Amino acid sequence: MQIAFVESAPSSPGGLAVFAAPERKLLPQAAATDKAVGGAIAAAMAGGRFTGKQGQIMALLAPRGVSATRVAVAGLGEGKDLRPRTVEGVGGALLADANGAAQKKLTLLVDAPPGSKLKVEEIAARLAMGALLRSYRFDKYRTKEKPEAKPTVAGLTVVTKNAAQARKLFAGLKAVADGVFLTRDLVSEPPNVLYPASFAQRCRQLTKLGVKVEVLGEAAMRKLGMGSLLGVGQGSARESQMVVMRWEGGKRGDKPLAIIGKGVCFDTGGISLKPAGGMEDMKWDMGGAGAVTGAMMALAGRKAKANVVGLIGLVENMPDGNAQRPGDVVTSMSGQTIEVINTDAEGRLVLCDVMTYAQKNFAPRAMIEFSTLTGAIIIALGHERAGLFCNNTDFSNKLRDAGAKVGEKLWRMPLGDAYDKLLTSDIADMRNVGTGRDAGSISAAQFLKRFVENDRPWAHIDIAGTAWSSKGDDTTPKGATAYGVRLVDQYVADNLES
Ligand code: BES
Ligand code: MN
Ligand code: ZN
Repeated sequence: MQIAFVESAPSSPGGLAVFAAPERKLLPQAAATDKAVGGAIAAAMAGGRFTGKQGQIMALLAPRGVSATRVAVAGLGEGKDLRPRTVEGVGGALLADANGAAQKKLTLLVDAPPGSKLKVEEIAARLAMGALLRSYRFDKYRTKEKPEAKPTVAGLTVVTKNAAQARKLFAGLKAVADGVFLTRDLVSEPPNVLYPASFAQRCRQLTKLGVKVEVLGEAAMRKLGMGSLLGVGQGSARESQMVVMRWEGGKRGDKPLAIIGKGVCFDTGGISLKPAGGMEDMKWDMGGAGAVTGAMMALAGRKAKANVVGLIGLVENMPDGNAQRPGDVVTSMSGQTIEVINTDAEGRLVLCDVMTYAQKNFAPRAMIEFSTLTGAIIIALGHERAGLFCNNTDFSNKLRDAGAKVGEKLWRMPLGDAYDKLLTSDIADMRNVGTGRDAGSISAAQFLKRFVENDRPWAHIDIAGTAWSSKGDDTTPKGATAYGVRLVDQYVADNLES
């Protein structure tokens, strides 16, 4: 979709969208449009349910007196309640509405509602961002889609005062959307196409943006003693990989933020095999690695003034004659030994070695790790929020605040010695699962915590419930959400760049 910011409306706008505030208050360009159509908007409002509440849309079909093919009136909400994320939601809803009505072009006539906390150029840029995010499709494997089933809007024109400033704001957001789209692509790809080596190959493309990309194969990881990660990939015909992506946009010598992701390109459970029903979902068990890769693209794309290193552990968890067995003991890069009780608790086995590598090589100022780690987090939080496990309250609050701004919500979960005890093994330093099903997400987090060195700020974000959406929302079509990309971007902007 082409997106342009201009100061005055084009002569053939296609579908037009204008804005209202609550209690049927038309904003200036909506009022002017109403005048041009002979008061049809006001008349339709008077007789209908539309009041200008945030998210509401009312359409005027075949309008007389304007060159538009259709007029949509959208509720922006009360000026004092406007937030960037809610404005994005309105933009997303308008795009979906225009596609539903088979419009080829969409033109937004943007005004700020009275008392708006956001400037008009920010509203304009956020509307465009929401529409862009909503426009995502993964259709490369459809060969027979009927034209009428495809989205129609090919051009979005945003008419606003201060168009130049809006364009500039949008350029930064567009870089983030590019990162989101990369993540959605990676997460959507089928597991026969996206496996450790082909995933690593896609990461290499970030070098174009100035990211330094290094890929380690099994031989290199064996030398480093990453026995825990390698054990997981041992039953797969595909070679395991670790990818290290460095963005150095900050001061030289400033310790980087490390972002770490679980990249299980397919999780069968291994010898502790999962049941068949729904197993295909485990193609997106690399959602954490996908988010890290997209976040690196976003930061590099907008040239963030910060040092950030992204590290992802890529494996495939398969049952095989050579697969690791329940009962095996592996030695992690940290030197700690692990009794593998359940080969389906593989994510933590991958992540612990990546965490150790990150700390030994980069001494990061903090670590944020994303993983589709446990089904139990879906039981606890559903699909609304990701579970946040953190050893530092200030860090945890900052992550929560960043997430709230971009609509990637977090809920902090507890940690503690009593949970750690669940991991006691009879023959090794720890077992890879707790006993029974109690506190499954917390025991997984406690496992990871054993690999945090020097009490450095560490956050584990369990995205098993949020990496994929079966229903979608105002800015996200159903499918891969790219949860985590915007959270990292916002956290970096608010805490490392300012
Ligand atoms: N990848 C799964 C977790 C998962 C489940 C992600 C559902 C997304 C949706 C993970 O590797 C796993 O299998 N976890 C087990 C842990 C158990 C064996 C302790 C689980 O959650 O059942
Ligand atoms: Mn598993
Ligand atoms: Zn898994």
